[in-house]
Amino acid sequence: MRIDHVAIVVNNLDEAVRQYQTALGIKEVEYETVETEGVRIAILHLNNSRIELMEPTRDSSPIKKFLETKGEGLHHIALETNSIEGEVERIKGCGIRFLGEIRPGSRGTKITFIHPKSLHGVLIELCSHAK
Ligand code: CO
Repeated sequence: MRIDHVAIVVNNLDEAVRQYQTALGIKEVEYETVETEGVRIAILHLNNSRIELMEPTRDSSPIKKFLETKGEGLHHIALETNSIEGEVERIKGCGIRFLGEIRPGSRGTKITFIHPKSLHGVLIELCSHAK
């Protein structure tokens, strides 16, 4: 596996993008809205992975709830695998809990999440890109 992206929840996306661009020296940013999850995402490309800044688009968004209870900060780390089905089966066999089944993510990816309680407080996304 390799780190595909690190996702950070922010109150104000435009402000956060400016600050991260300045800090990391990044010029280009891509934006994406995932209406099913209620988030707007800014993607900052690094050499071999990405940082995704996320802002809620509505009050019922799980990200809104995250902000209200935990505030801004790290939301999840995404690990890419070539075989998400195989990995999920292997990991479930170790007694580790998942949040939901494998489902479509953005840009033709397949994703699922490992429960943070199973990994010492960090939400881990598994993803695989379309071949
Ligand atoms: Co993610």
